[in-house]
Amino acid sequence: MSVVPDITLNDDNTIPQLGFGVFQIAPEDTVEAVSEALRIGYRHIDTAEMYGNEKEVGEAIRASGLDRGDVFVTSKLNNGFHEPDDAREAFDTTLSELGFDYVDLFLIHWPLPTLYGGDFVSTWKTLEEFQRDGRARSIGVSNFQIEHLERLASETDTVPAVNQIEVHPYLTNDAVREYGREHGIATEAWSPIAQGGVLDDPTITQIAENVGKTPAQVVLRWHLGRGDIVFPKSVTPSRIKENFELFDFELGQEDMDEITALDRGEDGRTGPNPDTFAYVPDQR
Ligand SMILES: NC(=O)c1ccc[n+]([C@@H]2O[C@H](COP(=O)([O-])OP(=O)(O)OC[C@H]3O[C@@H](n4cnc5c(N)ncnc54)[C@H](OP(=O)(O)O)[C@@H]3O)[C@@H](O)[C@H]2O)c1
Repeated sequence: MSVVPDITLNDDNTIPQLGFGVFQIAPEDTVEAVSEALRIGYRHIDTAEMYGNEKEVGEAIRASGLDRGDVFVTSKLNNGFHEPDDAREAFDTTLSELGFDYVDLFLIHWPLPTLYGGDFVSTWKTLEEFQRDGRARSIGVSNFQIEHLERLASETDTVPAVNQIEVHPYLTNDAVREYGREHGIATEAWSPIAQGGVLDDPTITQIAENVGKTPAQVVLRWHLGRGDIVFPKSVTPSRIKENFELFDFELGQEDMDEITALDRGEDGRTGPNPDTFAYVPDQR
């Protein structure tokens, strides 16, 4: 049995709370990084059409010798494919790139409220089709703000299983997390260590020293203590291992509160603001 706890989603599927993210891992480095993660014990991989490495993620999982059912795989719809027919074609491509006949979780990567006439509702209804036909076991969204989630709630039948949003000590994103908690939407925290940007914060380094762990382990443990799902990215074997060693300690309430108090609100955001982000990559 894995040391990583499972979180039960609103559709009764389960997801390992700790996974491995592959954003910004070059395709030629992906097989090695994912293979290393699987060797260490990660059983949840977070990729996206936009990352350009779905093929290599599938390759590494097959090469591991693990059963497909033992690894939770997430991918995401790229920004150029929100219109239903485009989404259907893009999802077919995702499955053929991965070399699997289903994904465990498929997400709308960004809401793009300023594109497509602001219509992410028809996109969501297309993901509902993928879930109905069994090719996406769970469906969810990413970078959705409360107003976007409210629109889905009033215009569609399925509550997203997850909302994957930027969360770390400098952007606690608690209003969106709280909305999710109240409505049965699990929060996945992306850039959980702010791509390294929070690791030399004096509050965090002090807590790390006190508990005898590294700053990255302290921050990842903080996320787990808040109940969020995380998937730190690294191409460095020692860090891939370090980021998995989170289950032999816990943070006291005072440490948890001190880290939460580092929140800088919008000033702490390192990625794009979902209300205005409108990037469409070159079509593949
Ligand atoms: N839905 C979205 O819009 C969205 C956006 C961004 C990210 N994500 C997902 O979230 C995952 C994680 O976010 P992220 O990749 O942006 O950033 P992250 O996991 O917060 O940080 C990754 C960076 O930190 C370094 N690092 C990793 N572990 C470390 C450690 N123990 N000590 C020191 N440095 C360490 C890595 O360096 P090395 O690799 O050189 O070791 C890399 O530069 C992504 O891979 C992706 O799956 C989703």
